[in-house]
Amino acid sequence: TPARHAPAHDSATLHVTGRARYLDDQPAPADALHVAVGLSPTACGRLTQMNLDAVRRAPGVVDVITVVDIPGKTDVGPVFPGDPLLADAEVRYVGQPLFAVAATDFKAARRAVTLAEVEIDAQPARLDAVAAAEAEEWVRPPHVQQSGDWQQALAGATHVLEAEQFVGGQEHFYLEGQACLALPNEDDGVTVHTSSQHPSEVQKLIAEVLGVALHAVTVEVRRMGGGFGGKETQAAPWACLAALLARRTGRAIRLRLPRGDDMRATGKRHPFHNRYRLGVDAQGILLGGEITTIGDCGHSPDLSEAIVDRAMFHADNAYSLGDARVTGIPARTHNPSNTAFRGFGGPQGMMIVERAMDDIARHLGEDPLTIRKRNLYRPDRDVTHYGQHVEQTALLHEVVSRLETDSDYWARRDAIRTYNAQSTILKKGLALTPVKFGISFTAKHLNQAGALLHIYTDGSVMINHGGTEMGQGLHTKVGQVVARELGLDNSAVRITATRTDKVPNTSPTAASSGADLNGMAARNAAIQVRERLFDFAAEHFFQDQQFDREGMRLENGELVAGSGENGENERRIAWGELIQAAYLGRVSLSATGFYATPLIHYDRAAGQGRPFYYYAHGAAVSEVVVDTLSGEYRVTRVDILHDVGDSLNPAIDTGQVEGGFIQGMGWLTSEELKWDASGRLLSDGPATYKIPTIGDTPPDFRVSLLEGHPNSQASLYRSKAVGEPPFMLAISVWSALRDALSSLADYRVSPALDTPATPERVLFVAQALRQAA
Ligand code: MTE
Ligand code: MOS
Repeated sequence: TPARHAPAHDSATLHVTGRARYLDDQPAPADALHVAVGLSPTACGRLTQMNLDAVRRAPGVVDVITVVDIPGKTDVGPVFPGDPLLADAEVRYVGQPLFAVAATDFKAARRAVTLAEVEIDAQPARLDAVAAAEAEEWVRPPHVQQSGDWQQALAGATHVLEAEQFVGGQEHFYLEGQACLALPNEDDGVTVHTSSQHPSEVQKLIAEVLGVALHAVTVEVRRMGGGFGGKETQAAPWACLAALLARRTGRAIRLRLPRGDDMRATGKRHPFHNRYRLGVDAQGILLGGEITTIGDCGHSPDLSEAIVDRAMFHADNAYSLGDARVTGIPARTHNPSNTAFRGFGGPQGMMIVERAMDDIARHLGEDPLTIRKRNLYRPDRDVTHYGQHVEQTALLHEVVSRLETDSDYWARRDAIRTYNAQSTILKKGLALTPVKFGISFTAKHLNQAGALLHIYTDGSVMINHGGTEMGQGLHTKVGQVVARELGLDNSAVRITATRTDKVPNTSPTAASSGADLNGMAARNAAIQVRERLFDFAAEHFFQDQQFDREGMRLENGELVAGSGENGENERRIAWGELIQAAYLGRVSLSATGFYATPLIHYDRAAGQGRPFYYYAHGAAVSEVVVDTLSGEYRVTRVDILHDVGDSLNPAIDTGQVEGGFIQGMGWLTSEELKWDASGRLLSDGPATYKIPTIGDTPPDFRVSLLEGHPNSQASLYRSKAVGEPPFMLAISVWSALRDALSSLADYRVSPALDTPATPERVLFVAQALRQAA
């Protein structure tokens, strides 16, 4: 059995036996209708005609809606407007929803969609984010963060280096696609089951689309078959369509996107174009300079302002940039609106400074690890370009130096140099890259959470909170918190589906802060009930005894009072008995909990502040072997040391580190998004889009959690968030590939290697280096 502090995921057995219920497994009433959505085949143009007569007449069709059928708001932009639920006159990307059909079965709905006569006056699509940025086509204005005089830093530098890079996007490829089930209520309301990271926002948008109050809409999320950021905003439009059709027809509505439609119609990780011009001293230590980062946001703002901000907040990764100016440009293109994806822009931002570290090392003839270590934040260089103090610089150095030793970096470096000198075709590469990732939503108001705790008369406990379960083990962790505060076994505590009628006004489960925020709220609720139980016990059980109220505790399913020394003067009351007595004594056994993160602030106009409560750290060493004649390569060994403070659940955290790393590796290596010249996605299924599989796991994969380093901030039991930070450890794979390629030019050249670093890209770089050599 798993250790008490590391219980398995509460749905682990259901997951692996296929009994876990996802949206499409949810039973629906027999008369439920199925929806298919008509999507734009054109990236840019004016909708001149849409004749849906044949669609309406098609067998099985019950209802067809276009934008004119929306009773309330037609724009479902989550933060800023810009996302029409159904197209009006203008078409802005391939895959944009034009109309929706509800029919008696799914095939009938899909067949009916093909009968639409749609005419679009096509105009040239803008698909290049760099050109868009130059033309000042933005979804939001550019943003600048600056510390000191960057121009003077460049002027005084011993060496000035510059480079550009393209960092590709990424399809979320959640195993469960976008799906929902809408049930009309007897009044004007609707209950919607959805696969969303943000039930409260789905609730709000449905209410606005229907033109009803929020209390008329209830949204429930039991679990997602993966979210990864792709269901933070992008689950909402489908839920709105289903809710609207449910209201119109009075019948249950089931909507799920076929994989191809899902890939075409929803936004992805933003592709980025990054540039740096940085000055260093003779030791290769950064003095300052400028970094520009352009995000391809697609057609609307969605979350892009915060995503490009986060890229900027991480353009330093773990290194002091010196006196630097960082500019972020959220470019508008005719693509689906790119959105949250694990790391939320942070990974794309970090790539630029990791590129710079390698480049500086080659320029000076040093090992890249030497240059990275010299540039790590340290006590006399510990303020970021946005003004936040980096508190745990010693920890950062410790993670890197421990991993350097544990992975045997220098001995392997020597062995690889020897190997490469003798091997003409196969070349090995090695790289250590660190991660420093900021934890908190950078939109301050989102850093709050609520919980609802019930204790029933048999002593069983139910906890509900605002977070959603997408596989990351959040419910297990929050359940552990409650069990710990009430001194119960984990099995005594149950978590049910997330529902907007239980905990209201919740934040999305995102920014890795699900456990930090909701765990704290649940803890707050548990402490309230515990205090009530202590007050009650003092009166009811211990009236005549002189027990210290402060000394009472709940442990191992008992209330314990008294010193316990020599077992004298100690009283124990079983949990069940305590709860029964408290119920009869008319004590409330239910509580709501709340939490808001302290200390954080960011002045966006000044580009300065303390946006993050704390940072999570880690480092990885990756080794690769490249066939320089074909471009094919393998990741042969990976060592990871990752900081989660005092881990809430080492088993789940280790799983998050492993999964995050592999997903990051997919992003940087095999997952290539391809569009044709008209803006049509070509890589729209698993046959043309390659995510990592079990066979891509490094054969030698050594993952450790850093021990003995509690969070320096008063987070939940001094733990740290784990959902996103390990994703960026995969940058070590990309850097190791560059290292292997660099050996073709005697380590004097730092090759450009855009991502994903597919075998094709690796081969082109290898050929260019051979020709130059
Ligand atoms: N792990 C699994 N299994 N499935 C997911 O969808 N999403 C990631 C990460 N780990 C995800 C996951 C993302 S993008 C985030 S922000 C965090 O989990 C959210 O969960 P947490 O805040 O509870 O860690
Ligand atoms: Mo995660 S990208 O913050 O949902």
